Amino acid sequence: MLTVAQAKQELKLAVQMNPGPWEQHSYSVANNARLIATKVSTMDPEKAYVMGLLHDIGRRAGVTGIRHLFDGYNYLMSLGEPELAKISLTHSFPIKDVNTFFGKYDCDQEQMTFLADFLENTEQDDYDTLIQLCDAISLPNGACIMEKRFVDVAMRHGMPPFTIEKWKAFMNTKKHFDALCGCSIYSLLPNVLENSTLDLN
Ligand SMILES: [Fe+2]
Repeated sequence: MLTVAQAKQELKLAVQMNPGPWEQHSYSVANNARLIATKVSTMDPEKAYVMGLLHDIGRRAGVTGIRHLFDGYNYLMSLGEPELAKISLTHSFPIKDVNTFFGKYDCDQEQMTFLADFLENTEQDDYDTLIQLCDAISLPNGACIMEKRFVDVAMRHGMPPFTIEKWKAFMNTKKHFDALCGCSIYSLLPNVLENSTLDLN
C-alpha cells in the first residue's frame, strides 16, 4: 500500500488539479481515523491515515457528485491499490444501497450497476466503516458529535427518505468503535466539545 508520504504527494497533485476545501477535509478525516485506529489493537493507524487521505481522491477529476467515487476507484486501481480503491466506493455507503448517496447522481447506468454489485458482493471491514464514520463527523479543526452534524446537514439539504436509516447505521458504527476503543471516540478527537456546542456563525 502507498506510504503516508506517497499518499500526501498524491493528494497534493490532485488538489493542484482541482483545488478546494476537500484537501483540508481529507487531512481531517485521515487524522481522526488515525486517532481512533491507534486505540484499536487490530488496526494499523498508518493504513487508516492513508485511507483517510485518499478516500476522496476522485475529486482530482473536478467538481462532481457520485462520480468522484468512480474516478477515485479507477485511479487507485490504475495505481495497483485495490484496498484503497475499495474505500473510494464504500465511503459514502454505511447502508449498502446505491440509492442512498447524498448528492448528484452524475454517473451512467453501467456505473450504477457496477457499484450496486460491488456493494452487494464486498464485505465492509473496520477500515471501510471507520472512514465512513470519520467522513461524517470530521470538521476542518477536528470533529463534532454526529447528532449535531446530522441536524446541520438536514437543515441545509433536507431529509431524503433513507435519512433515518443512514443515521442509525452511523450510530451503530460509532457504538462499534466505542467498544473497540474502550472509550467514547469523541474523547479521542480534537475540539469535539467546542464544535458541538458553540455556534459562532
Ligand atoms: Fe467523498
